[in-house]
Amino acid sequence: MLTVHTLVDLRAALRQQPHWALVPTMGNLHAGHLALIARARAEHVPVVASIFVNRLQFGPHEDFDRYPRTLQRDAELLDEAGCDLLFAPDEAEMYPQPQTFRVLPDPAIADILDGAARPGHFEGVATVVMKLFQMVQPTHAVFGKKDYQQLLLIRRMVEQFALPIHIIGLDTVRAEDGLALSSRNGYLTPDERAQAPQLQAALRALAEDVRGAATPEQVHLLEQQALARLNQLGWTPDYLTLRRRSDLQPPTAQDLHRGTPCVVLAAARLGRTRLIDNLEC
Ligand code: PAF
Repeated sequence: MLTVHTLVDLRAALRQQPHWALVPTMGNLHAGHLALIARARAEHVPVVASIFVNRLQFGPHEDFDRYPRTLQRDAELLDEAGCDLLFAPDEAEMYPQPQTFRVLPDPAIADILDGAARPGHFEGVATVVMKLFQMVQPTHAVFGKKDYQQLLLIRRMVEQFALPIHIIGLDTVRAEDGLALSSRNGYLTPDERAQAPQLQAALRALAEDVRGAATPEQVHLLEQQALARLNQLGWTPDYLTLRRRSDLQPPTAQDLHRGTPCVVLAAARLGRTRLIDNLEC
């Protein structure tokens, strides 16, 4: 695997092949990221991974500074996983002048759920992903479904800007006890790590409970009960809610009646660590 740090070297490497699949990451790779690489390889095009901890998508009091940077180990893992090219720019290379032009995502998607809890987060995500798409010009790009809202937003951005990129969403990879793999799991203390699968359990319970619900009011009540249970277990939830898969809006009575595809999504803090997860239902 070739590793490049500059746009000039990236473009020179990309010129060797006509089509590329991109796997954008912020590094500190785990089995979930390696599954994205494997999925990209299944497209039978060379695979380029990017590692860049994107300041624009972190709030002022979030974990940008302590986000784990493990480039050497990440490069070894990518190499073993069959990745062909690694693009690991530093901040000056990615944002040579301050990035004053930004991608402003649709607030209907970007200002709800994680966007409500983390103002500006999705503007930062959309801006860096658009920039990576321009730099790499991939034919395919692979994202994990753990970041469900991010995946929907990127799909919409690609559609609306008519970018010729096939976006592939991959199911969340989980530890044996059900915890969704995430770089932020490394922040958990041993006790918190033992407790962390409760988030996935809460999603399963809510998905089960809402099966019989006929009205949005009933769903709302079940969500409130689920939030209260999570609170009692010592979590501080931002949201735990049933949404339509297509636009992440709450299902109407008609949706509930018709069985419109939905997803339950949660974000909650355990100690100092904020975890997110979801379950299609
Ligand atoms: O999902 C992530 O790791 C990041 O949000 C992404 C897509 C690499 C953009 O920084």
